[in-house]
Amino acid sequence: MNITKCLFPAAGYGTRFLPVTKAMPKEMLPILTKPLIQYGVEEAVEAGIDTMAIITGRGKRAIEDHFDISYELEHQIKGSSKEHLLDEIRALISKCTFTYTRQIEMKGLGDAILKGKVLIGHEPFAVVLADDLCINENGHGVLAQMIALYKKYKCSIVAIMEVPAEETYKYGVIDGKEIEEGVFMVSNMVEKPEPSEAPSNLAIIGRYILTPEIFEMIKSTKPGKNGEIQITDALMHLAQSGMVLACKFEGKRFDCGSVEGFVEATNYLYNVSYNQEN
Ligand code: UTP
Repeated sequence: MNITKCLFPAAGYGTRFLPVTKAMPKEMLPILTKPLIQYGVEEAVEAGIDTMAIITGRGKRAIEDHFDISYELEHQIKGSSKEHLLDEIRALISKCTFTYTRQIEMKGLGDAILKGKVLIGHEPFAVVLADDLCINENGHGVLAQMIALYKKYKCSIVAIMEVPAEETYKYGVIDGKEIEEGVFMVSNMVEKPEPSEAPSNLAIIGRYILTPEIFEMIKSTKPGKNGEIQITDALMHLAQSGMVLACKFEGKRFDCGSVEGFVEATNYLYNVSYNQEN
């Protein structure tokens, strides 16, 4: 079965960016002239996905407006030298269907993904956390790489990267056996372990391919750290009852949920896009 839907959990409070996230979704923070979530949607389209299922919450309406026509604005700039600035987003919108549901209480990423069941149905799907910005200048994006792997193994897949040992406490960390270059069969996963308890330095980032069994696994997962339902715990159950792979991807990943990563991504993209033009 082809993967045609991508879930974007975007209901989190984004407290690391307060006060800007008080009245504005973190996913709408701009890297140059595009909001974070647009990069995620572009990556999904490049991977052959056409339905974007977005989990929103209170104060997130700007996301829906962004992926819609703005009649007044478009009328104002029609025929002017600025009209082309909307070409890219117009083309993107015309290629996709956007569906939305709200997470009423922010009970964690696992809970946000479970809320997406109504939009996804019973089929495998991709998940993008828009605050992880991934760029592969040399070829396919991370989701396209993961979908290629899904076609071979037909199981849930998480994207991983090596991190310095002292940073494992920021991530879900996997343990597993390498079955082909850069692909691991997951045997264990720990959410945000201290370096001394981390099973490896292979950290999960915000890209997943999930089979629909995950919804039942989330339902039977008890709240973990901070009372939140962790997707890592549900994936661990899935790994124990079936198979979960972890895939080292090609490309760069910026943690735009943190101020440092956000600035790094901005500088990087400014250098590759604007500096090259001039
Ligand atoms: P984060 O852990 O980055 O949390 O969530 P956050 O609220 O967005 O940001 P901080 O840590 O307070 O600064 C990872 C992803 O999961 C989504 C977030 O929107 C983000 O894309 N999420 C998290 C939800 O959709 N619902 C939740 O209850 C929690």
